[in-house]
Amino acid sequence: QPVDAFDLVIFGGTGDLAVRKLLPALYHRYVDGQIPDVSRIVGIAREATDDEGYRATIRKALQNNGGQPGKIDDFLRLVHYRSLDARKDDGWDAFAALIGEQPDHVRVFYLSTSPELFVDICKRLGGYGLNKGKARVVLEKPIGRDLASANQINDAVGQVFDESQTFRIDHYLGKETVQNLLALRFGNVLFEPLWNASHIDHVQITVAETLGVGQRAGYYDHAGALRDMVQNHMLQLLCMVAMEPPSSLAPDAVRDEKLKVLRSLQPIDESNAAQLTVRGQYRAGAAEGQAVPGYLDELKDHKSNTETFTALKVEIANWRWAGVPFYLRTGKRLPERVSEIVVVFKQVPHSIFAASAGQLAQNRLVLRLQPGENIKLWVTIKDPGPGGLRLRHVSLDMSFAEAFGVQQPDAYERLLLDVVRGNPTLFMRRDEVEAAWQWADPILGAWANSGEAPRPYGAGTWGPTAAVALIERDGRTWNEDSE
Ligand code: BG6
Repeated sequence: QPVDAFDLVIFGGTGDLAVRKLLPALYHRYVDGQIPDVSRIVGIAREATDDEGYRATIRKALQNNGGQPGKIDDFLRLVHYRSLDARKDDGWDAFAALIGEQPDHVRVFYLSTSPELFVDICKRLGGYGLNKGKARVVLEKPIGRDLASANQINDAVGQVFDESQTFRIDHYLGKETVQNLLALRFGNVLFEPLWNASHIDHVQITVAETLGVGQRAGYYDHAGALRDMVQNHMLQLLCMVAMEPPSSLAPDAVRDEKLKVLRSLQPIDESNAAQLTVRGQYRAGAAEGQAVPGYLDELKDHKSNTETFTALKVEIANWRWAGVPFYLRTGKRLPERVSEIVVVFKQVPHSIFAASAGQLAQNRLVLRLQPGENIKLWVTIKDPGPGGLRLRHVSLDMSFAEAFGVQQPDAYERLLLDVVRGNPTLFMRRDEVEAAWQWADPILGAWANSGEAPRPYGAGTWGPTAAVALIERDGRTWNEDSE
């Protein structure tokens, strides 16, 4: 189904996210016939270039992304560029006139800039009356760097755009497996009765990357892994696992349930951060067979205390989850790129098998977000053959690429069209962002006050050994199956 005709304006239009993710996502939806030809995509940045210059940049990105030449040309007819500075008036009149040419179009203003510019951009959009009609604003993370700054941004944006017009994007919510979690949990009768502290031993969420911070060191050094990945993406994943069944998929039904989870997170602060959290920073090592420099060398600053890795033991204080730890870990320069959610069920209450049958293992449900999205349910069976009753642990395996043979759409493809459709189910409501910061702030405070440097780990390893100790201390291990 094509969406309504729209004008999508990307502030930060020459940035990495726009060029590498947003424009390719729009291209793919265009090729699939979901974007009407009269729609316009306008890149905005300070660089002095024009439509043709911008199209050349986007053409290159699309070619690298497997785009087809004829289709790329068709798509680029939709693409325009305007050079604007959010803090100066020059050019805004002409820009407002351009947008005003199509009053019936849905208008989407995507703020893919540093959050310091969000307020200036929104003020000007409001000043030029561009917030009227079917206008929506998309805020890319990070929204602030703590609760106070997030509130400032949300207040200022809220003066120009209503909450119903505001789409706070967390691209992890657009990933196919995350939506599959909804289907799996609430479209089957099998899992929900077991989905609680009586049957689940613990949950692990890992988001591991092989990349270092590279060109993004300037941004990253002010953020660190907790702000960059945990406060948003990982907490959102945790919410999708832990929330109560919403009464429907209506945006607020889902977001109300996520909010309850965020508000039930056990606080981590100075009293317990040393036991429940680990911070690390990578040193020189290897990534995908190549020698790579350490974080401080990339940053060219040898004093930074920013963490590039963190592992946490998180608990949810409610009836469903009391006593079930959620172990989270994320980091740059880890040995492989893998994101997964692992739900580990409890051991059977009593074994009827002889010791010679082998060890019983716990059921595990592994939802792999990337690479190669798949869902595996590990179960115990009898080892096939005549050798007596020996137990074997095998996975019921569903790989999406094998089962459906199509490449899964990128998260941004779905989310951008959801903005045009005006469906905020997979976007964060203001109170969710606040609750997430409310939980994260005391952790950041405890780390800052401890004055301790992050623990070093070699690039290409699974982070500091303390992260292994964090889970092994509880008699558990990080999931290692990478079949
Ligand atoms: C972004 C973070 O939000 O997510 C990056 O700022 C991170 O640091 C990226 O690399 C990971 O996204 P994905 O989709 O590649 O897992």
